[in-house]
Amino acid sequence: MSDSYSLLILPGDGIGPEVMAEVVKVIDWFGANRGMSFDISEGLVGGASYDAHGTPLTDETMVKAQVVDAVLLGAVGGPKYDLLDFSVKPERGLLRLRKEMDLYANLRPAQCFDALADFSSLKREVVAGLDILIVRELTSGVYFGEPRGIHSDDNNPDNEGGRVGINTQRYTSGEIRRVARSAFELARRRNNKVCSMEKANVMESGILWREEVQWVHDNEYPDVDLTHMYADNGAMQLVRNPRQFDVIVTDNLFGDLLSDAAAMLTGSLGMLPSASLGAPMANGRPKAMYEPVHGSAPDIAGQGKANPIACILSFAMALRYSFDQGQAASDLERAVEKVLADGVRTADLMGPEGGTPVSTAEMGDRIVAALSQA
Ligand code: NAI
Ligand code: MG
Repeated sequence: MSDSYSLLILPGDGIGPEVMAEVVKVIDWFGANRGMSFDISEGLVGGASYDAHGTPLTDETMVKAQVVDAVLLGAVGGPKYDLLDFSVKPERGLLRLRKEMDLYANLRPAQCFDALADFSSLKREVVAGLDILIVRELTSGVYFGEPRGIHSDDNNPDNEGGRVGINTQRYTSGEIRRVARSAFELARRRNNKVCSMEKANVMESGILWREEVQWVHDNEYPDVDLTHMYADNGAMQLVRNPRQFDVIVTDNLFGDLLSDAAAMLTGSLGMLPSASLGAPMANGRPKAMYEPVHGSAPDIAGQGKANPIACILSFAMALRYSFDQGQAASDLERAVEKVLADGVRTADLMGPEGGTPVSTAEMGDRIVAALSQA
């Protein structure tokens, strides 16, 4: 019996198409060797879509994204589009996908590959074997709350400059519960451990966050080990002893900062995958988009220098979280680990000792070869 999955591939701009070509090799390998069948459609996003259609995302592509099992995106943007009107900037395509698919749970793993442990800003013995997953709420909180704006503060003579800037942290119980459910579901596929972070000591929205996460736990996921931590302490603990964590769930603002900090514990931007998940569809799979954390890297685009691993590991996340192929995902991660252990490096992974970097395509080929050897 074959397992069939629909995929929308949106390579985008700059190095996006270069790294995506390597992911396609990996997808083809799983199709040929693991009895999975992929129903793949390709589309344009970002500047590539603007060049062809005058918009960073067409309605047709948006409709398609809503019905596939997973969207795989490369990267968007580039200097060529910097002067475009805000409404048609490449980033708008990405934002439209996230918004209309309502992708409220952003997953950012921080996983330390042994061969790259010396790339970390922390000591090898602190980060070796690190494997944590930060779940950041992505569609609400202070980046979206009303009221917001910059206003004149004329009636306050003591305010030098006479202006006030306002943003509002606002969370509904429903918004907290749904991202908490995502975190608990993910924890059950990992080590059954969740740490929730907020600032319940100084923010009412933090008190609500803590109460609602606890409620979801007590009523729906009592089997998962749940702890709570103030986010500032969380930042310290991430740097002091990151391996104490497994799944971390937190709000949009704290998640933005904590996920970037955690990512750097493990090294290069070219290695970092991500996923954004929404509500379960009729087939039980969540709406989902997978993409590397990095951008379109115009400084190296078109030169075959880009590291495809971030995009390949994003596909590993799709295998695990959209297709329920945990074993295949682990095999792919192990193949990456093996290639790195063999000393294969793209230019971004070269240490001060130097060496000869491999091209984007060679890195992809080596990973596929390692899959075949497993
Ligand atoms: P960037 O992530 O594209 O590049 C930052 C630095 O990291 C560059 O020196 C680049 O060469 C290097 N780098 C990034 N990915 C790499 C990879 N896979 N392999 C080897 N080296 C890699 O961020 P930057 O330069 O700030 O933005 C460039 C463009 O990308 C801009 O137009 C920006 O708006 C867009 N962007 C798009 C994102 C997305 O599509 N999700 C995210 C971030 C930026
Ligand atoms: Mg950020």
